[in-house]
Amino acid sequence: MWGGRFAAGPSAIMREINASIPFDKALWRQDIAASKAHVAMLAAQTIVSPEDAKMIADGLDRVAAEYEADGVPEDWDLEDIHMTVEARLTELIGPAAGRLHTARSRNDQVATDFRLWVREAMVRAEAGLLSLQRALVTRAHENVDAIMPGFTHLQTAQPVTLGHHLMAYYEMTKRDISRFSDARKRTDECPLGSAALAGTGFPIDRQATAEALGFAAPTRNSLDAVSDRDFALDYLMTASQCALHLSRLAEEMIIWASQPFGFVKMPDTLSTGSSIMPQKKNPDAAELVRGHAGRIIGCATALMVTMKGLPLAYSKDMQDDKPPVFEAAGLLDLAIAAMTGMVADSTFDTARMRQAAELGYATATDLADWLVREADIPFREAHHITGAAVKLAEREGKALDALTLEQLQAIDERIDERVFAALSVDASAHSRSSYGGTAPQQVRARVAEAAKEVDLE
Ligand code: ARG
Repeated sequence: MWGGRFAAGPSAIMREINASIPFDKALWRQDIAASKAHVAMLAAQTIVSPEDAKMIADGLDRVAAEYEADGVPEDWDLEDIHMTVEARLTELIGPAAGRLHTARSRNDQVATDFRLWVREAMVRAEAGLLSLQRALVTRAHENVDAIMPGFTHLQTAQPVTLGHHLMAYYEMTKRDISRFSDARKRTDECPLGSAALAGTGFPIDRQATAEALGFAAPTRNSLDAVSDRDFALDYLMTASQCALHLSRLAEEMIIWASQPFGFVKMPDTLSTGSSIMPQKKNPDAAELVRGHAGRIIGCATALMVTMKGLPLAYSKDMQDDKPPVFEAAGLLDLAIAAMTGMVADSTFDTARMRQAAELGYATATDLADWLVREADIPFREAHHITGAAVKLAEREGKALDALTLEQLQAIDERIDERVFAALSVDASAHSRSSYGGTAPQQVRARVAEAAKEVDLE
Protein backbone atom coordinates (compact mmCIF):
# COMPACT_ATOMS: atom_id res chain seq x y z
CA MET A 1 0.00 0.00 0.00
CA TRP A 2 2.93 2.35 0.54
CA GLY A 3 5.87 0.35 -0.88
CA GLY A 4 6.74 2.71 -3.76
CA ARG A 5 9.69 4.48 -2.14
CA PHE A 6 11.15 1.44 -0.28
CA ALA A 7 13.99 -0.85 -1.39
CA ALA A 8 13.40 -3.42 1.35
CA GLY A 9 10.25 -4.66 3.08
CA PRO A 10 9.71 -4.43 6.83
CA SER A 11 11.45 -6.86 9.18
CA ALA A 12 9.43 -9.40 11.11
CA ILE A 13 9.68 -7.17 14.17
CA MET A 14 8.49 -4.12 12.24
CA ARG A 15 5.49 -6.06 10.94
CA GLU A 16 4.59 -7.23 14.41
CA ILE A 17 5.00 -3.94 16.25
CA ASN A 18 3.18 -2.08 13.49
CA ALA A 19 0.15 -4.32 13.15
CA SER A 20 -2.99 -3.00 14.81
CA ILE A 21 -5.35 -5.35 13.01
CA PRO A 22 -5.49 -7.76 15.99
CA PHE A 23 -7.42 -5.09 17.91
CA ASP A 24 -8.63 -2.44 15.45
CA LYS A 25 -10.61 -5.01 13.50
CA ALA A 26 -13.26 -4.13 16.09
CA LEU A 27 -13.74 -0.96 14.00
CA TRP A 28 -14.75 -2.74 10.79
CA ARG A 29 -18.38 -1.64 10.83
CA GLN A 30 -17.44 1.99 11.42
CA ASP A 31 -14.70 1.81 8.78
CA ILE A 32 -17.07 0.53 6.11
CA ALA A 33 -19.79 3.03 7.05
CA ALA A 34 -17.30 5.91 6.83
CA SER A 35 -15.97 4.67 3.48
CA LYS A 36 -19.48 4.44 2.06
CA ALA A 37 -20.25 7.99 3.20
CA HIS A 38 -16.95 9.16 1.72
CA VAL A 39 -17.42 7.54 -1.69
CA ALA A 40 -21.02 8.74 -1.99
CA MET A 41 -19.73 12.27 -1.36
CA LEU A 42 -16.88 11.82 -3.89
CA ALA A 43 -19.46 10.86 -6.51
CA ALA A 44 -21.81 13.72 -5.62
CA GLN A 45 -18.87 16.12 -6.00
CA THR A 46 -17.92 14.47 -9.34
CA ILE A 47 -14.51 13.54 -7.92
CA VAL A 48 -15.13 9.90 -8.88
CA SER A 49 -17.53 8.67 -11.56
CA PRO A 50 -20.96 7.36 -10.58
CA GLU A 51 -19.98 3.95 -12.03
CA ASP A 52 -16.85 3.63 -9.91
CA ALA A 53 -18.68 4.91 -6.84
CA LYS A 54 -21.38 2.30 -7.27
CA MET A 55 -18.82 -0.47 -7.72
CA ILE A 56 -17.01 0.67 -4.59
CA ALA A 57 -20.19 0.93 -2.50
CA ASP A 58 -21.44 -2.49 -3.62
CA GLY A 59 -18.00 -3.95 -3.02
CA LEU A 60 -17.95 -2.51 0.50
CA ASP A 61 -21.32 -4.14 1.14
CA ARG A 62 -19.86 -7.47 0.06
CA VAL A 63 -16.87 -7.01 2.36
CA ALA A 64 -19.28 -6.24 5.21
CA ALA A 65 -21.31 -9.38 4.48
CA GLU A 66 -18.13 -11.47 4.52
CA TYR A 67 -16.95 -10.02 7.83
CA GLU A 68 -20.40 -10.47 9.32
CA ALA A 69 -20.37 -14.15 8.35
CA ASP A 70 -16.74 -15.13 8.89
CA GLY A 71 -15.07 -12.39 10.93
CA VAL A 72 -12.20 -10.14 9.86
CA PRO A 73 -9.04 -11.88 8.61
CA GLU A 74 -5.84 -10.86 10.40
CA ASP A 75 -2.96 -10.27 8.04
CA TRP A 76 -0.13 -8.30 9.65
CA ASP A 77 1.16 -7.19 6.26
CA LEU A 78 -2.03 -5.19 5.87
CA GLU A 79 -1.30 -3.41 9.18
CA ASP A 80 -4.74 -2.23 10.16
CA ILE A 81 -8.47 -2.43 9.52
CA HIS A 82 -8.36 0.37 6.93
CA MET A 83 -5.82 -1.44 4.73
CA THR A 84 -7.54 -4.77 5.33
CA VAL A 85 -10.88 -3.51 4.04
CA GLU A 86 -9.31 -1.75 1.07
CA ALA A 87 -7.23 -4.80 0.11
CA ARG A 88 -10.30 -7.04 0.11
CA LEU A 89 -12.22 -4.44 -1.87
CA THR A 90 -9.42 -4.43 -4.45
CA GLU A 91 -9.59 -8.22 -4.72
CA LEU A 92 -13.33 -8.00 -5.26
CA ILE A 93 -13.65 -5.07 -7.69
CA GLY A 94 -10.18 -4.44 -9.09
CA PRO A 95 -8.36 -1.14 -9.65
CA ALA A 96 -11.46 1.06 -9.15
CA ALA A 97 -11.03 0.35 -5.43
CA GLY A 98 -7.97 2.58 -5.55
CA ARG A 99 -10.23 5.62 -6.05
CA LEU A 100 -11.80 5.25 -2.60
CA HIS A 101 -8.78 6.75 -0.87
CA THR A 102 -9.00 10.01 -2.89
CA ALA A 103 -9.08 13.09 -0.62
CA ARG A 104 -8.67 10.95 2.46
CA SER A 105 -5.91 9.61 4.70
CA ARG A 106 -5.87 6.87 7.27
CA ASN A 107 -5.38 9.66 9.79
CA ASP A 108 -8.82 11.20 9.31
CA GLN A 109 -10.23 7.76 8.61
CA VAL A 110 -9.17 6.30 11.95
CA ALA A 111 -10.20 9.43 13.85
CA THR A 112 -13.67 9.14 12.26
CA ASP A 113 -14.05 5.39 12.80
CA PHE A 114 -12.92 5.65 16.39
CA ARG A 115 -15.28 8.55 17.16
CA LEU A 116 -18.18 6.53 15.77
CA TRP A 117 -17.19 3.58 17.97
CA VAL A 118 -16.74 5.68 21.10
CA ARG A 119 -20.03 7.46 20.52
CA GLU A 120 -21.78 4.08 20.51
CA ALA A 121 -19.98 3.08 23.70
CA MET A 122 -21.26 6.26 25.35
CA VAL A 123 -24.81 5.52 24.24
CA ARG A 124 -24.45 1.96 25.56
CA ALA A 125 -23.21 3.18 28.93
CA GLU A 126 -26.09 5.63 29.22
CA ALA A 127 -28.62 2.89 28.40
CA GLY A 128 -27.02 0.48 30.87
CA LEU A 129 -27.01 3.12 33.58
CA LEU A 130 -30.69 3.82 32.95
CA SER A 131 -31.46 0.14 33.68
CA LEU A 132 -29.40 0.36 36.85
CA GLN A 133 -31.30 3.49 37.87
CA ARG A 134 -34.63 1.75 37.35
CA ALA A 135 -33.48 -1.09 39.61
CA LEU A 136 -32.29 1.40 42.25
CA VAL A 137 -35.53 3.39 42.20
CA THR A 138 -37.64 0.21 42.32
CA ARG A 139 -35.78 -1.16 45.32
CA ALA A 140 -35.74 2.25 47.02
CA HIS A 141 -39.50 2.49 46.55
CA GLU A 142 -39.93 -0.88 48.31
CA ASN A 143 -37.73 0.27 51.17
CA VAL A 144 -38.56 3.94 51.76
CA ASP A 145 -39.12 3.35 55.48
CA ALA A 146 -36.88 0.33 56.11
CA ILE A 147 -34.55 1.43 58.90
CA MET A 148 -30.86 0.67 58.76
CA PRO A 149 -27.80 2.13 60.43
CA GLY A 150 -26.21 4.99 58.52
CA PHE A 151 -22.44 5.00 58.89
CA THR A 152 -19.58 7.43 59.07
CA HIS A 153 -16.10 5.90 59.39
CA LEU A 154 -18.05 2.63 58.94
CA GLN A 155 -19.20 3.15 62.55
CA THR A 156 -22.92 3.31 63.26
CA ALA A 157 -23.84 6.99 63.09
CA GLN A 158 -27.59 7.70 62.76
CA PRO A 159 -30.56 5.69 61.54
CA VAL A 160 -31.28 6.13 57.85
CA THR A 161 -33.62 4.30 55.53
CA LEU A 162 -32.50 1.72 53.01
CA GLY A 163 -34.46 3.66 50.39
CA HIS A 164 -32.40 6.75 51.13
CA HIS A 165 -29.17 4.78 50.93
CA LEU A 166 -30.08 3.25 47.55
CA MET A 167 -31.15 6.63 46.22
CA ALA A 168 -27.67 7.98 47.01
CA TYR A 169 -26.44 5.71 44.19
CA TYR A 170 -29.25 6.95 41.98
CA GLU A 171 -27.86 10.49 42.34
CA MET A 172 -24.35 9.25 41.45
CA THR A 173 -25.54 7.43 38.34
CA LYS A 174 -27.52 10.50 37.33
CA ARG A 175 -24.30 12.49 37.28
CA ASP A 176 -22.59 9.68 35.35
CA ILE A 177 -25.27 9.77 32.67
CA SER A 178 -25.01 13.52 32.43
CA ARG A 179 -21.23 13.25 31.99
CA PHE A 180 -21.62 10.63 29.24
CA SER A 181 -24.21 12.65 27.37
CA ASP A 182 -22.12 15.80 27.73
CA ALA A 183 -19.07 13.94 26.39
CA ARG A 184 -21.20 12.57 23.57
CA LYS A 185 -22.03 16.12 22.45
CA ARG A 186 -18.33 16.98 22.17
CA THR A 187 -17.68 13.70 20.32
CA ASP A 188 -20.34 14.60 17.80
CA GLU A 189 -18.03 16.26 15.22
CA CYS A 190 -16.72 14.52 12.14
CA PRO A 191 -12.97 14.57 11.31
CA LEU A 192 -13.44 12.98 7.86
CA GLY A 193 -11.99 15.19 5.12
CA SER A 194 -9.21 16.56 7.34
CA ALA A 195 -7.08 14.15 5.29
CA ALA A 196 -3.52 13.52 6.51
CA LEU A 197 -3.28 16.77 8.51
CA ALA A 198 -3.80 19.82 6.33
CA GLY A 199 -7.09 19.21 4.54
CA THR A 200 -7.29 18.47 0.83
CA GLY A 201 -7.31 20.28 -2.51
CA PHE A 202 -10.20 18.17 -3.82
CA PRO A 203 -13.59 19.91 -3.75
CA ILE A 204 -15.02 17.67 -1.03
CA ASP A 205 -18.23 18.31 0.95
CA ARG A 206 -17.48 17.75 4.61
CA GLN A 207 -20.99 18.75 5.70
CA ALA A 208 -22.37 15.90 3.62
CA THR A 209 -20.12 13.18 5.08
CA ALA A 210 -20.66 14.49 8.61
CA GLU A 211 -24.39 14.38 8.10
CA ALA A 212 -24.34 10.94 6.45
CA LEU A 213 -22.53 9.54 9.48
CA GLY A 214 -24.94 11.17 11.93
CA PHE A 215 -22.52 13.79 13.25
CA ALA A 216 -23.77 17.23 14.21
CA ALA A 217 -21.02 19.01 12.22
CA PRO A 218 -17.57 18.59 10.68
CA THR A 219 -14.56 19.40 12.88
CA ARG A 220 -13.13 22.87 12.28
CA ASN A 221 -9.37 22.43 12.33
CA SER A 222 -7.73 19.65 10.35
CA LEU A 223 -4.60 19.51 12.55
CA ASP A 224 -6.69 19.20 15.68
CA ALA A 225 -9.11 16.74 14.08
CA VAL A 226 -6.48 14.11 13.22
CA SER A 227 -4.56 14.44 16.48
CA ASP A 228 -7.43 14.91 18.92
CA ARG A 229 -8.31 12.00 21.16
CA ASP A 230 -10.23 14.02 23.74
CA PHE A 231 -13.38 12.06 22.91
CA ALA A 232 -11.62 8.83 23.90
CA LEU A 233 -10.27 10.47 27.05
CA ASP A 234 -13.71 11.88 27.86
CA TYR A 235 -15.08 8.38 27.56
CA LEU A 236 -12.33 6.87 29.71
CA MET A 237 -12.50 9.49 32.42
CA THR A 238 -16.27 9.37 32.55
CA ALA A 239 -16.07 5.57 32.60
CA SER A 240 -13.55 5.79 35.43
CA GLN A 241 -15.79 7.96 37.55
CA CYS A 242 -18.75 5.71 36.81
CA ALA A 243 -16.71 2.60 37.65
CA LEU A 244 -15.67 4.26 40.88
CA HIS A 245 -19.34 4.60 41.85
CA LEU A 246 -20.09 1.00 40.86
CA SER A 247 -17.10 -0.10 42.88
CA ARG A 248 -18.32 1.71 46.00
CA LEU A 249 -21.74 0.09 45.61
CA ALA A 250 -20.07 -3.31 45.08
CA GLU A 251 -17.93 -2.77 48.17
CA GLU A 252 -20.98 -1.97 50.29
CA MET A 253 -22.80 -5.04 49.02
CA ILE A 254 -19.75 -7.18 49.85
CA ILE A 255 -19.63 -5.79 53.39
CA TRP A 256 -23.40 -6.13 53.80
CA ALA A 257 -23.32 -9.74 52.57
CA SER A 258 -20.64 -10.77 55.08
CA GLN A 259 -22.02 -12.90 57.93
CA PRO A 260 -21.33 -10.43 60.77
CA PHE A 261 -23.40 -7.82 58.87
CA GLY A 262 -25.96 -10.11 57.25
CA PHE A 263 -27.82 -7.16 55.69
CA VAL A 264 -28.17 -8.70 52.27
CA LYS A 265 -28.24 -11.99 50.41
CA MET A 266 -26.87 -11.62 46.93
CA PRO A 267 -28.63 -13.53 44.16
CA ASP A 268 -27.23 -17.03 43.55
CA THR A 269 -26.98 -16.07 39.90
CA LEU A 270 -24.31 -13.47 40.71
CA SER A 271 -22.39 -15.48 43.32
CA THR A 272 -20.01 -18.42 43.25
CA GLY A 273 -19.22 -21.28 45.60
CA SER A 274 -15.98 -22.53 47.11
CA SER A 275 -14.38 -25.76 45.96
CA ILE A 276 -13.41 -26.65 49.54
CA MET A 277 -15.81 -24.88 51.93
CA PRO A 278 -19.32 -26.14 51.17
CA GLN A 279 -21.08 -23.36 53.11
CA LYS A 280 -19.50 -20.55 51.11
CA LYS A 281 -21.36 -18.22 48.79
CA ASN A 282 -18.87 -15.72 47.53
CA PRO A 283 -19.65 -12.27 46.12
CA ASP A 284 -17.31 -12.71 43.15
CA ALA A 285 -19.29 -10.55 40.73
CA ALA A 286 -19.21 -7.60 43.13
CA GLU A 287 -15.52 -8.19 43.83
CA LEU A 288 -14.80 -8.18 40.10
CA VAL A 289 -16.73 -4.94 39.67
CA ARG A 290 -14.49 -3.49 42.39
CA GLY A 291 -11.47 -4.95 40.60
CA HIS A 292 -12.56 -3.75 37.16
CA ALA A 293 -12.74 -0.19 38.41
CA GLY A 294 -9.00 -0.31 38.97
CA ARG A 295 -8.40 -1.55 35.45
CA ILE A 296 -10.69 1.08 33.92
CA ILE A 297 -8.89 3.85 35.79
CA GLY A 298 -5.65 2.30 34.53
CA CYS A 299 -6.92 2.54 30.94
CA ALA A 300 -7.69 6.25 31.38
CA THR A 301 -4.22 6.83 32.79
CA ALA A 302 -2.64 4.86 29.94
CA LEU A 303 -4.18 7.03 27.23
CA MET A 304 -3.48 10.29 29.02
CA VAL A 305 0.18 9.34 29.28
CA THR A 306 0.24 8.23 25.62
CA MET A 307 -1.11 11.59 24.47
CA LYS A 308 0.63 14.02 26.76
CA GLY A 309 3.89 14.43 24.83
CA LEU A 310 2.70 14.28 21.23
CA PRO A 311 3.37 17.17 18.88
CA LEU A 312 0.75 17.92 16.21
CA ALA A 313 -0.44 16.19 14.21
CA TYR A 314 -0.68 12.37 13.94
CA SER A 315 2.03 10.15 15.45
CA LYS A 316 1.91 6.38 15.50
CA ASP A 317 1.78 6.41 19.30
CA MET A 318 -1.87 7.22 18.75
CA GLN A 319 -2.50 3.74 17.44
CA ASP A 320 -2.20 2.74 21.10
CA ASP A 321 -5.37 4.71 21.83
CA LYS A 322 -7.66 1.82 21.00
CA PRO A 323 -6.76 -1.09 23.33
CA PRO A 324 -7.43 0.87 26.54
CA VAL A 325 -10.76 2.17 25.23
CA PHE A 326 -11.89 -1.26 24.03
CA GLU A 327 -10.77 -2.86 27.29
CA ALA A 328 -12.43 -0.24 29.48
CA ALA A 329 -15.68 -0.37 27.50
CA GLY A 330 -15.92 -4.16 27.81
CA LEU A 331 -15.27 -3.96 31.54
CA LEU A 332 -17.67 -1.07 32.11
CA ASP A 333 -20.55 -2.66 30.19
CA LEU A 334 -20.17 -5.80 32.30
CA ALA A 335 -19.82 -3.92 35.57
CA ILE A 336 -22.99 -1.91 34.94
CA ALA A 337 -24.92 -5.07 34.01
CA ALA A 338 -23.61 -6.97 37.06
CA MET A 339 -24.59 -4.20 39.48
CA THR A 340 -28.01 -3.87 37.85
CA GLY A 341 -28.66 -7.57 38.53
CA MET A 342 -27.23 -7.24 42.03
CA VAL A 343 -29.54 -4.36 42.94
CA ALA A 344 -32.60 -5.88 41.27
CA ASP A 345 -32.28 -9.39 42.70
CA SER A 346 -30.62 -9.13 46.10
CA THR A 347 -32.68 -9.87 49.19
CA PHE A 348 -32.33 -7.27 51.90
CA ASP A 349 -32.74 -8.48 55.49
CA THR A 350 -34.51 -5.38 56.75
CA ALA A 351 -35.20 -6.88 60.19
CA ARG A 352 -31.51 -7.41 60.69
CA MET A 353 -30.73 -3.90 59.46
CA ARG A 354 -33.21 -2.41 61.92
CA GLN A 355 -31.73 -4.47 64.73
CA ALA A 356 -28.24 -3.25 63.86
CA ALA A 357 -29.48 0.34 63.98
CA GLU A 358 -31.06 -0.30 67.39
CA LEU A 359 -27.95 -1.89 68.82
CA GLY A 360 -25.51 0.73 67.62
CA TYR A 361 -26.68 3.74 69.69
CA ALA A 362 -27.70 5.34 66.44
CA THR A 363 -30.15 7.62 68.27
CA ALA A 364 -27.58 9.20 70.61
CA THR A 365 -27.73 12.41 68.54
CA ASP A 366 -31.51 12.41 69.01
CA LEU A 367 -31.09 12.29 72.79
CA ALA A 368 -28.67 15.22 72.64
CA ASP A 369 -31.01 17.14 70.30
CA TRP A 370 -33.94 16.43 72.67
CA LEU A 371 -31.99 17.86 75.62
CA VAL A 372 -31.26 21.01 73.60
CA ARG A 373 -34.84 21.36 72.39
CA GLU A 374 -36.85 20.36 75.48
CA ALA A 375 -34.53 21.26 78.35
CA ASP A 376 -32.74 24.22 76.76
CA ILE A 377 -29.33 22.68 77.46
CA PRO A 378 -26.39 23.93 75.31
CA PHE A 379 -25.49 21.31 72.67
CA ARG A 380 -21.97 20.70 74.02
CA GLU A 381 -23.35 19.90 77.48
CA ALA A 382 -26.13 17.77 75.97
CA HIS A 383 -23.45 15.86 74.00
CA HIS A 384 -21.64 15.14 77.28
CA ILE A 385 -24.80 13.99 79.10
CA THR A 386 -25.67 11.72 76.18
CA GLY A 387 -22.17 10.25 76.22
CA ALA A 388 -22.73 9.22 79.84
CA ALA A 389 -26.05 7.61 78.91
CA VAL A 390 -24.39 5.64 76.08
CA LYS A 391 -21.63 4.53 78.45
CA LEU A 392 -24.24 3.23 80.93
CA ALA A 393 -26.29 1.49 78.21
CA GLU A 394 -23.15 -0.13 76.83
CA ARG A 395 -22.20 -1.38 80.32
CA GLU A 396 -25.68 -2.86 80.72
CA GLY A 397 -25.67 -4.30 77.19
CA LYS A 398 -28.87 -2.42 76.32
CA ALA A 399 -30.20 -0.06 73.69
CA LEU A 400 -30.53 3.61 74.73
CA ASP A 401 -34.32 3.46 74.88
CA ALA A 402 -34.12 0.33 77.06
CA LEU A 403 -32.62 2.33 79.94
CA THR A 404 -35.20 3.18 82.62
CA LEU A 405 -36.33 6.71 83.26
CA GLU A 406 -34.71 6.47 86.71
CA GLN A 407 -31.38 5.52 85.14
CA LEU A 408 -31.60 8.45 82.70
CA GLN A 409 -32.63 10.89 85.43
CA ALA A 410 -29.70 9.73 87.54
CA ILE A 411 -27.49 11.02 84.73
CA ASP A 412 -29.45 14.26 84.33
CA GLU A 413 -32.61 15.11 86.27
CA ARG A 414 -33.95 17.34 83.48
CA ILE A 415 -34.77 14.25 81.42
CA ASP A 416 -38.44 13.17 81.56
CA GLU A 417 -40.54 10.36 80.08
CA ARG A 418 -41.20 12.25 76.84
CA VAL A 419 -37.62 11.47 75.82
CA PHE A 420 -38.50 7.89 74.90
CA ALA A 421 -40.54 9.07 71.93
CA ALA A 422 -37.38 10.57 70.47
CA LEU A 423 -35.15 7.56 71.08
CA SER A 424 -36.66 4.98 68.75
CA VAL A 425 -34.92 4.47 65.43
CA ASP A 426 -38.17 5.19 63.60
CA ALA A 427 -38.71 8.49 65.39
CA SER A 428 -35.13 9.41 64.65
CA ALA A 429 -35.39 8.69 60.92
CA HIS A 430 -38.80 10.37 60.63
CA SER A 431 -37.48 13.48 62.37
CA ARG A 432 -34.79 14.06 59.69
CA SER A 433 -37.25 15.66 57.33
CA SER A 434 -35.10 18.48 56.00
CA TYR A 435 -34.99 18.64 52.19
CA GLY A 436 -32.84 15.73 50.97
CA GLY A 437 -32.92 14.10 54.42
CA THR A 438 -33.62 10.48 55.28
CA ALA A 439 -37.21 10.91 56.57
CA PRO A 440 -39.46 8.48 54.65
CA GLN A 441 -41.60 11.41 53.55
CA GLN A 442 -38.57 13.04 51.90
CA VAL A 443 -37.36 9.77 50.37
CA ARG A 444 -40.82 9.02 49.04
CA ALA A 445 -40.89 12.40 47.31
CA ARG A 446 -37.47 11.91 45.71
CA VAL A 447 -38.32 8.35 44.64
CA ALA A 448 -41.49 9.64 42.96
CA GLU A 449 -39.53 12.31 41.09
CA ALA A 450 -36.84 9.82 40.09
CA ALA A 451 -39.44 7.32 38.87
CA LYS A 452 -40.58 10.01 36.42
CA GLU A 453 -36.99 10.81 35.43
CA VAL A 454 -36.39 7.18 34.44
CA ASP A 455 -39.87 6.56 33.01
CA LEU A 456 -40.96 4.09 35.67
CA GLU A 457 -44.56 3.93 36.92
N1 ARG B 1 -3.63 2.06 12.35
C1 ARG B 1 -3.45 3.47 12.50
C2 ARG B 1 -4.00 3.91 13.84
O1 ARG B 1 -4.75 3.22 14.41
C3 ARG B 1 -4.16 4.23 11.42
C4 ARG B 1 -3.54 5.52 11.04
C5 ARG B 1 -2.23 5.29 10.42
N2 ARG B 1 -1.73 6.45 9.83
C6 ARG B 1 -0.45 6.50 9.44
N3 ARG B 1 -0.08 7.58 8.91
N4 ARG B 1 0.38 5.53 9.64
O2 ARG B 1 -3.62 4.94 14.35
